[in-house]
Amino acid sequence: MELFIKFNIGSFTELSCRISLLALLCVMSFSSTDAYDALDPSGNITIKWDIMSWTSDGYIATLSILNFQKYRHIEAPGWKLGWTWAKSEVIWSMLGGQTVEQGDCSKFKGDIPHCCKKKPTVVDLLPAAPYTQRMANCCRGGVLSSWVQDPANALSSFQLTVGQAGTSNKTVRAPKDFTLKTPGPGYTCGPTQFVKPSKFKTPDRRRVTQALMSWQVSCTYSQFLAQKTPTCCVSLSSFYSETIVNCPACTCGCQNKVPRPAAGTCVGSVSSYLASALAIPSKINSYTPVVHCTSHMCPIRVHWHVKQNYKEYWRVKITITNFNYKMNYTQWNLVVQHPNFNHLTETFSFNYKPIIPYGLINDTAMLWGIKYYNDWLMQAGPDGFVQSELLFRKGKSFTFDKGWAFPQRIYFNGDVCVMPPPDQYPNLPNGSSSGIASLLGLLKLPILSLLLIFFSAP
Ligand SMILES: *[C@@H]1O[C@H](CO)[C@@H](O)[C@H](O)[C@H]1NC(C)=O
Ligand SMILES: *[C@@H]1O[C@H](CO)[C@@H](O)[C@H](O)[C@H]1NC(C)=O
Ligand SMILES: *[C@@H]1O[C@H](CO)[C@@H](O)[C@H](O)[C@H]1NC(C)=O
Ligand SMILES: *[C@@H]1O[C@H](CO)[C@@H](O)[C@H](O)[C@H]1NC(C)=O
Ligand SMILES: *[C@@H]1O[C@H](CO)[C@@H](O)[C@H](O)[C@H]1NC(C)=O
Repeated sequence: MELFIKFNIGSFTELSCRISLLALLCVMSFSSTDAYDALDPSGNITIKWDIMSWTSDGYIATLSILNFQKYRHIEAPGWKLGWTWAKSEVIWSMLGGQTVEQGDCSKFKGDIPHCCKKKPTVVDLLPAAPYTQRMANCCRGGVLSSWVQDPANALSSFQLTVGQAGTSNKTVRAPKDFTLKTPGPGYTCGPTQFVKPSKFKTPDRRRVTQALMSWQVSCTYSQFLAQKTPTCCVSLSSFYSETIVNCPACTCGCQNKVPRPAAGTCVGSVSSYLASALAIPSKINSYTPVVHCTSHMCPIRVHWHVKQNYKEYWRVKITITNFNYKMNYTQWNLVVQHPNFNHLTETFSFNYKPIIPYGLINDTAMLWGIKYYNDWLMQAGPDGFVQSELLFRKGKSFTFDKGWAFPQRIYFNGDVCVMPPPDQYPNLPNGSSSGIASLLGLLKLPILSLLLIFFSAP
């Protein structure tokens, strides 16, 4: 008997621990300036600086930007990489990228460097760049896919010919103070570190070459640094209730306030957007959204509808709506946490991959569009949405009670979507579940084992 009571207490304390841990995580993900993301703990963008050969006044280096983040990508207009030279280095020439400013090269006679700035900023070339300026993994306009969605395109490279630098591994100095913009803030880069020389496989994979010397920098993302206002919210509904829980009002801004540049501005329809399109961009930053006027003012809304109940399965419909008139979200992705993802049976028109941080709990899914079908989330308007249904097999803990059927956490393109408060979730109709019934449900297992112990006792 003692053993059973312990087990009983144990199961209840575990429950409350898990609940309070979740609450803690939610609070942390909103208030912390730390780049730590519990669902992608080692997510980072790594910059590799590989010296491939020495020249008479410096070296030729290949730079690679590797996106090791599971679900955060860099969209158009792409990355901007900056650093500070340690000495008075210049960039003689580049392949696969360019600096945004040349700077003051008036000291030079004859050959003029590509860039003489102490703090150069490099951008990728556009896909139409001439053949003579290209190299492998360049020229995608600075767009980097997420690691899970498209690892082949999660890498960007360019080549630098550096002058007025050291010409051996004893005299050369590593650049420092790296910055990565997308083009807004969000990433923080660590110090430049010496690492073992990078190795490269030849295209036929039969030979391995290596850099003469390699440095590495790691940059991590923080939503807090990126923007103070949320950009995404969640609404909920279910077949068993008429309540539709909308996104919390003013999640991403308030309509009736004078438009603030940070929160963006809103218009009533496509035609009024087009009519004002000439006027709006001149007033605000060209990347701040112009959204459809709603009570939440978010550019993105994710709607989770509990659609159907079968004997052994249940079905959810997810709809992502784009309210932003200024943006087609290419290669969008969603990360959803729900305890039933360990029994996901089918996703109908999204790709799925489980995300299992630390290899522990299989309750998080990454979902993204199918190429050429719905991997573009079109700008606000009649086509500005994507949707899919998910079919789950009911696990042991399955219930429609107490909002269990709703997700615990949703990210859109790696940014947290604001959920409605749990006390507003659609309720089961009266009668189908009284307080006593749900209590019995909770106690079912212990009571069964109590009976078992009782009857099997000698
Ligand atoms: C960056 O990500 C890679 C790949 O997941 C990992 O091996 C590396 O340790 C990470 N770096 C940091 C500083 O977290
Ligand atoms: C520099 O190169 C020499 C060989 O050419 C090597 O012995 C030495 O360890 C290298 N030093 C560094 C800091 O890489
Ligand atoms: C979005 O894509 C459509 C179709 O390619 C294009 O007509 C439209 O101009 C794009 N909108 C934006 C804001 O880029
Ligand atoms: C996680 O759950 C999914 C969906 O049921 C399943 O396909 C996958 O094998 C599970 N992975 C692990 C490591 O348990
Ligand atoms: C359900 O119960 C609540 C309070 O117990 C009551 O206010 C509500 O009217 C009931 N709804 C229906 C449909 O009976």
